Amino acid sequence: MAQIATTMTKRHPIGVFDSGVGGLTVVRALRRALPGEDIVYLGDTARVPYGSKSPRTVEKYSLTCQRFLLDRGVKLVLIACNTASANALPALREASPVPVIGAVEPGADSALAATKTGHIGVIGTLGTVRSGAYAKAIAARDTAAKLSALACPLFVPLAEEGWTHDDIAALVARRYLTQLFAQDTQIDTLVLGCTHYPLLADVLGQVAREIAGHDVMVVDSAHAMAEAAKDALGSGPNKRTAAGRLDCFATDTSRLDELAPRFLGEPLTGFELVDL
Ligand code: DGL
Repeated sequence: MAQIATTMTKRHPIGVFDSGVGGLTVVRALRRALPGEDIVYLGDTARVPYGSKSPRTVEKYSLTCQRFLLDRGVKLVLIACNTASANALPALREASPVPVIGAVEPGADSALAATKTGHIGVIGTLGTVRSGAYAKAIAARDTAAKLSALACPLFVPLAEEGWTHDDIAALVARRYLTQLFAQDTQIDTLVLGCTHYPLLADVLGQVAREIAGHDVMVVDSAHAMAEAAKDALGSGPNKRTAAGRLDCFATDTSRLDELAPRFLGEPLTGFELVDL
């Protein structure tokens, strides 16, 4: 990806949007990778979930989210929603004067770097899996790699309830991952193709290894996106030592106080309610 013009680099914030609060896992990784950067986050909580909606609707909603961020002068847009990345990336890039990073391409790069067998599994929402975006991204990079994909819609409510390390999480993971490994027993790399899934990473890794009977690497697209943002900023990231600002906006504020810190991993000062 082209690096950002240096006049834009230091003072302007990075814009991040998601259908809801799950994208805060990307903000969490971003704040570790680029601690001095200011971030503007938008959660489209009034219209979540995107994962069960049609590509046309996801594209329309995503464009309004991006417009909101661009109006705040962001120098870079991160689509912290796999469903939006999978269904709306070309339209978002076309509509943006600043670089746009989706979740799929960095996730595909990390998966290919991690796999030894070339057999990769990806799990995500229905919208992400139906789009075939991961299959296309993997095939464009390595024609010999084999991708198996499975929609796992129940993981989103589990992550939101905070049921991420218990018997219920393990049971649901076993049910889904048995189906995934039935498609290909040689999968050695599992891509968490949904912003919510990093919260379930421990259980998913453990259950995947049990079912596969061999080691399975878990690749998290949140970390891959943060690294891609670092590359896009090149030598221009904000080097100040104080932590950057995090300004959060949402289109509905119900339950955010409870949910947001779970995904961000740190306390939050609050969300400002906006209409798009
Ligand atoms: N943010 C979505 C994703 O990463 C999950 C939640 C939703 O369905 O909107 O695909």
